[in-house]
This record gives sequence, structure tokens and C-alpha cells, in this order.
Amino acid sequence: MDALSLLLNRRSLPKLMEPAPQGEELENIFRAGLRAPDHAALTPWRFIVSHGEGMQRLADILVEAAKADGAEPAVVEKAAKAPYRAPMVITVVAKVTEHDKVPVIEQHLSAGCAVQAMQMAAVAQGFSGYWRTGKWAYHPVVREALGVQGDDLIAGFLYLGTPGCREAKVFERDLTQFVEYL
Ligand SMILES: Cc1cc2nc3c(=O)[nH]c(=O)nc-3n(C[C@H](O)[C@H](O)[C@H](O)COP(=O)(O)O)c2cc1C
Repeated sequence: MDALSLLLNRRSLPKLMEPAPQGEELENIFRAGLRAPDHAALTPWRFIVSHGEGMQRLADILVEAAKADGAEPAVVEKAAKAPYRAPMVITVVAKVTEHDKVPVIEQHLSAGCAVQAMQMAAVAQGFSGYWRTGKWAYHPVVREALGVQGDDLIAGFLYLGTPGCREAKVFERDLTQFVEYL
């Protein structure tokens, strides 16, 4: 797949199956994340991989968060199942460093770019992904369990796996609605 086709046609896939990327393919995904634009080379990224037993650990954290909210049993059950929508979830965290010239928002944006790059790298290698946050990304119990502190941000849970359904068509969008020239 050439780079422009990837950029123009990428879709997110909600149904993702085994196998998840492993070995060199997974390393390529991390390396793509590490190529995110990065003001002042602060490397504001952490990639926390859940796969195999790690999926249950992530599910347990979400359940703990739901229970801390006093959630209904149905919500707790949904939280328990949430990670299993794919065989692998990479939690991408913006790890913020205080800096005179690089505000927190730029470091958050950089982590967002990392998520996008990692999803692209997955697609380029025959896998697919889905970027999710939901309320769990901002929940204090989840943040604490994953060591996300202060201005750090869970930029996304990147669900990864092998396509388990056909991709939806790419929306045709009218450029004139989005593009302005000064
Ligand atoms: C920061 C961020 C958080 C997102 N969180 C969710 C989410 O929690 N649940 C969801 O269904 N989609 C979420 N999305 C959107 C999907 O990742 C996806 O982009 C959307 O479903 C459109 O599909 P497409 O990527 O194929 O165009 C999020 C996107 C971004 C950028």
C-alpha cells in the first residue's frame, strides 16, 4: 500500500480479531509512534500494551473504575468486556514534561499524533485499529492504575488486531467546507 492511499483511505474497524501484531510488526507500530512530531524532543509518550493476560488486567482496572462510580451491574459488565473488542489494546499516554516553550497541549497533541501514526502502521502491515477514549480514559481510578499523573493524559486506547469485518466506505467530503485561503 502506498503512503498516499493509506492516508486517503484509512478507516477504523470496530471488529478486530487474532492475531494481534507481534514481533517486528509490533515494533514497527511502536517506532511509528515514536516518529510523532515532538517539539523540543521531549518524547512525551508511553505505550502500555495489553495482550494475553494484560487484557484481563486492563479489564480489571475498568471494572474497578466502574465500581468506584457505583455503576449499575450492566455498566460494570460492559467495562469488563470493553478491552476484548480486540486482541490487543495499547494505551497511549502523553507523559508531560514541564518546559518553558512547549505547553502541555503540544505534548498532548504529540501523543495524539503517535496514536494516529501507530494506527496507520498497523493498517500498512495488514492489521487494523480503532482509537477509543470513552470516559475510562479520564477516570481517576484508571489514571492511577496506569501511573498517569498530573498533566499527563491518556490520549487513547488503540485497539489493534486483524480485520474482522469489511471496511466501511470512505466518506466523500466537500473540500470547500473545510479549506479556506487567506
Ligand atoms: C481522541 C479520540 C477519541 C476517540 N474515542 C472514541 C471512542 O471512545 N469511541 C468511539 O467509538 N470512537 C472514538 N473515536 C473515533 C474513532 O476512533 C473513529 O475515528 C471514528 O469512529 C470514525 O471512523 P474512521 O476513523 O473510520 O473515520 C475517537 C477518536 C479520537 C480522535
